[in-house]
Amino acid sequence: MTEDVTTEDITTEPEETNEKVKQMEANKKKYEFIEDLPGVGPATAQKLRDLGYHTVESLAMAASRELEPVGVSEKKAFQIIEAARSSVGIAFIRADELFKMRKSVLRLTSGSKALDKILDGGLETQTITEFYGEYGSGKSQMCHQLCVNVQLPPDRGGLNGAALYVDTENTFRLERIVQMAKFAGLEPEEAVKNIIYAEAYTSDHQMFLLENADEIIKANNIKLIIIDSLTAHFRSEYIGREMLASRQQRLNKHMHKLVALARAFNAVAVVTNQVMAKPDQFFGDAIHPIGGNIVGHTSHTRIYLRRASHGPIRIARLVSSPYLPEGEEILKVTGNGIEDVSEEEKATKTRGR
Ligand SMILES: Nc1ncnc2c1ncn2[C@@H]1O[C@H](COP(=O)(O)OP(=O)(O)OP(=O)(O)O)[C@@H](O)[C@H]1O
Ligand SMILES: [Mg+2]
Repeated sequence: MTEDVTTEDITTEPEETNEKVKQMEANKKKYEFIEDLPGVGPATAQKLRDLGYHTVESLAMAASRELEPVGVSEKKAFQIIEAARSSVGIAFIRADELFKMRKSVLRLTSGSKALDKILDGGLETQTITEFYGEYGSGKSQMCHQLCVNVQLPPDRGGLNGAALYVDTENTFRLERIVQMAKFAGLEPEEAVKNIIYAEAYTSDHQMFLLENADEIIKANNIKLIIIDSLTAHFRSEYIGREMLASRQQRLNKHMHKLVALARAFNAVAVVTNQVMAKPDQFFGDAIHPIGGNIVGHTSHTRIYLRRASHGPIRIARLVSSPYLPEGEEILKVTGNGIEDVSEEEKATKTRGR
């Protein structure tokens, strides 16, 4: 996109585009259950469920080879997926219409206006946002805060939705949710009901949970899917060079599933990731997120969190985004959650960071 053409310019354009989008909307809900799709009988439906496809939305995001294990021919798989796609309104579209589709992307506040600003309004739905950083940098705190924020109404930066929290390190704390919810003015008892929690014991279990999450996401109006941490199990289970390729392949599959769910349900997807130091590096930053290219390419937005010094202040750096410039802002982690740093605090506390 060149600078003088903005999405706003394009989206205020032709009526015809409006019509197409309306048509796609009208086509939606043609098939409610997977059994309603042409060619899907009870037996095929069961096999599809065994593969993790419980909803029309998740089937719409499948690739035909992914249905191979069910024993349906490639042609039939293609037809099933096509029907699912027509039902949820995904088809080939012109690039100007793509801007319209982008309009359906929603934003979720991080709790810090400063960070939201460098993210162009907050974390977006339909893509993956990755927070990486050292232990104690605030990744899990951010995840807790997002679970509260997603429940807020849109005029407060929320999505009026629920959260799914896949916890791999047993660091989810209800007490923190209660504190943050109170501060946000939500009823804590209600707030905790809107978080569906799952602990993943191994990387396989973690993948299994996500592969079977579509029905839960739909039934609970989940608008935020968190995997905290994305890489910890993979890192501890796949050790050594000879296992690297298979680790990367599994991680790739896992992230692919996450993007598919985020798109299918217009949800925000968030993953956390630890870092490792690369001492043999002469140039640039010697701190790298785990998972290399696979995680980097699939995470659409990457944010590096680090401590400013001792105390509550953290530096959040937007390291990569498909369309936003790099940027850096500070925020703080307090009892209330993720907050902005006041101008006075900025002046005194961040000196010499
Ligand atoms: N109730 C609280 N009040 C103030 N600060 C808190 C509170 N709870 C946690 N913190 C801050 O958050 C830090 C922990 O951050 P967090 O658990 O998000 O780290 P992380 O980046 O997820 O680390 P890891 O890589 O180990 O998972 C604590 O060290 C503390 O500074
Ligand atoms: Mg953590």
